[in-house]
Amino acid sequence: MTPDRLKEMKVQGEKIAVLTAYDYPTARLFDESGIDVILVGDSLGMVVLGYPDTTHVTIDEMVHHVGAAARGVKRALVVGDLPFASYTMPKQAVVNARRLMDAGAHAVKLEGGRDQCDQIEEIIADGIPVMAHLGMLPQSVKMEGGYKIKGKTPPEVEKLLDDARAVQEAGAFAVVLELVKSEASAQISTALSIPTIGIGSGLNCDGQVLVSHDLIGLFPWFTPKFVKPHGHVAEQIRASAAAFIADTKQAGR
Ligand code: KIV
Repeated sequence: MTPDRLKEMKVQGEKIAVLTAYDYPTARLFDESGIDVILVGDSLGMVVLGYPDTTHVTIDEMVHHVGAAARGVKRALVVGDLPFASYTMPKQAVVNARRLMDAGAHAVKLEGGRDQCDQIEEIIADGIPVMAHLGMLPQSVKMEGGYKIKGKTPPEVEKLLDDARAVQEAGAFAVVLELVKSEASAQISTALSIPTIGIGSGLNCDGQVLVSHDLIGLFPWFTPKFVKPHGHVAEQIRASAAAFIADTKQAGR
C-alpha cells in the first residue's frame, strides 16, 4: 500500500479501511486481515499508556510503538502520529518525522490545517509523506476545553474547507476528519482530490478509521457513541484471568 494507491482508491470509489495498532501482534493480525492503513496513533496515550489525554505522549513513546507495530506489517501503509509539541516548528517537525520513519513508519500524521502548512511542506521536502488531521483535534483538548463536534455552523464549515484545501495544496496525501458533522465531511470529501478518512464523521468520507480498542472492546471503561464494537476482548481477558485464578487456587486440593 502506498499514498498514491490510496489516492487511486478514492478515484475508483473504493473505500479505505484504517485501524490503529500500537504493538506487533495487533498490527500483524490487522495486516493479515487486509487492512489498508495501520495508524500508530497517539491515542496510544489513553488506550495503552493510561494517560488522561494525548497531550502526555512523547516522541520517544511514539518511536517505541511505531517500531513494534511496523515489525508486524508486510502489506499495509504504516502511519506514525507526531505527538503533541513535537512539530511546533518546521525543522523540529522534520527531525521528529524522520525518527518515526527510521522506526518503520511509511508516513506521518499531524493535527492542524493552514497553520501547519509550513510543517507539512518541510516534512514532504524531506521525502516523508504526510497525512493531515482536521475537525476535532485531540491534541488541542486543553485549549478547546473538551472534545467538540466540528462543522455545525456555516463559518465552521468554511474554515474546515479552507483548511482541507490548504493541507491538500501543501502536499498531504490524505486527511483524517474527526467528529465532523456528516454534511460537512461530505462537502469536504467532494471538494478534495485526496482521500478523507472519517472518525465519527458519517459515512460520506472516502475511508473510515477507528481506534482498535474501541472496535474490539478492549477499553471497556469508555466507548465513543459513534462506535459499534465488533468484539468483546475485555470480557474474554477477564474470563481467562478468572479461569486461571480458579485453576491455580484449586490445584492440589
Ligand atoms: O491517535 C489516533 O488514534 C488518531 C485517530 C483517532 C484518527 O489520531
